[in-house]
Amino acid sequence: MTNTYDFGMIGLGVMGRNFLLNIADHGFSVAGLDTDATKAAALETEAAGKPAKGTTSTQEFVASLKRPRHIMLLVPAGKPVDSVIESLLPFVEKDDLIIDGGNSFFEDTERRFSYLKEKNIHFMGMGVSGGSKGARFGPSIMPGGAKEAYEPVRPILEAVSAKVNGDPCVAFLGNGSSGHYVKMVHNGIEYGMMQLIAEAYDLLKNLGGLSNKELHETFDKWNNGRLRSYLIEITAQVFAQKDDLGDGLLVDKILDKAKQKGTGKWTSQNAMDMGIPVPAIDAAVTMRGLSALKLERLEMEAQFPKKKKTKKGKNEKLVKRVEAALYFAFTTTYAQGLHLLAEASEEKNYGLDLETIARIWRGGCIIRADLLELIRQAYSQQPGLKNLLLSPVFKDEISKSEKDMRKVLRTAIKAGVPVMAMAATLTYFDAFRSGQLPLNLVQAQRDLFGSHTYERVDKAGVFHTEW
Ligand code: 6PG
Repeated sequence: MTNTYDFGMIGLGVMGRNFLLNIADHGFSVAGLDTDATKAAALETEAAGKPAKGTTSTQEFVASLKRPRHIMLLVPAGKPVDSVIESLLPFVEKDDLIIDGGNSFFEDTERRFSYLKEKNIHFMGMGVSGGSKGARFGPSIMPGGAKEAYEPVRPILEAVSAKVNGDPCVAFLGNGSSGHYVKMVHNGIEYGMMQLIAEAYDLLKNLGGLSNKELHETFDKWNNGRLRSYLIEITAQVFAQKDDLGDGLLVDKILDKAKQKGTGKWTSQNAMDMGIPVPAIDAAVTMRGLSALKLERLEMEAQFPKKKKTKKGKNEKLVKRVEAALYFAFTTTYAQGLHLLAEASEEKNYGLDLETIARIWRGGCIIRADLLELIRQAYSQQPGLKNLLLSPVFKDEISKSEKDMRKVLRTAIKAGVPVMAMAATLTYFDAFRSGQLPLNLVQAQRDLFGSHTYERVDKAGVFHTEW
């Protein structure tokens, strides 16, 4: 059947298939391509009567789509994306649109965008967040590229995205690679929040002596307050999960080595390049690295043993303070990520609107949280806001929770509980609110040993001293 289907997907793994089934649920006809015939067949079975076609032939797949074609890729980031694009080139035509929905590195997206533009093929880098369930029932979608290429697919993407009060969690974000850039920063924030939650767990378990049951109840309660978010919700769920393969709860059987695919690291690396501090994200990436050094950690533990400080029984005060510390730390982590986006928007000419980004992150994605509605309001009040912490929206809550964070850190540091990400949020805050930092001394040192010059507080110009 030629010129029949509204939307095509390449890569029919769980994510690709679910995204396509979601589209089919909304009344659009879909075609899927995969080298694995069983996956292509699974699409047709799971679509159960809705117009959906699975195939293993690229030529047949492309021909089956209505023109101009909408072809989305959900294949592993890196080389597979380039090879799929090459395999499509003999068949696609002027004005067709290729969408990369994976976690591609934004510089690869930039390169592919220019490469396909020369061939009059539209290309859109599009972040999709929400895991396999999100893909099936409503993800947060972050498209970027050329506005005119977005318009034809807009009704489909709006239909399948998550909704918050009827508002779709998708919007055209900006030029070039902006969609993948925003998704990268989303993931950086995700790394930060996950690490902060892990530190809260460490404190509550090892200092507060909370059992898994109590941890489940605590996170569940938090999820009904100002910390309400997807990550807090699933954390509560984790603490209740029984182990299928043995006695007890699963969380205690999981090896403490966290893996990563690179998006958090890219955020840190790029933030360094841009000169925008994101220390909570840096700490989260560093902690994944440290977690991987299991053998060395065990050796270190034998060499420098910790004193056990666990207080048995519920520790109400600690629980309350950790909740406030998390509120402070989540807000600061969003502030860091969004500051990076504000800078990238200018430097890379993305034309991002931070209110829109906060809006589409309120539902569907991994970092969705009630806090994002407040963040949206902050940017709506001050569209040019560089850093969230400068907004009056957060002033009172930040001032109050900062005190609890300080107390939590004092307790943690005294007991030797590693709280790298939490500490990074507070020291970032302390440095950021210092009108005067000691970096005048660094300038003096640079000039003394390397004649690197310095500026003065009392005179304009550039100075050098023979020290
Ligand atoms: C999402 C997630 C997703 C990714 C995780 C895991 O938004 O749905 O970000 O894209 O699978 O971030 O990443 P790591 O393997 O690097 O932890």
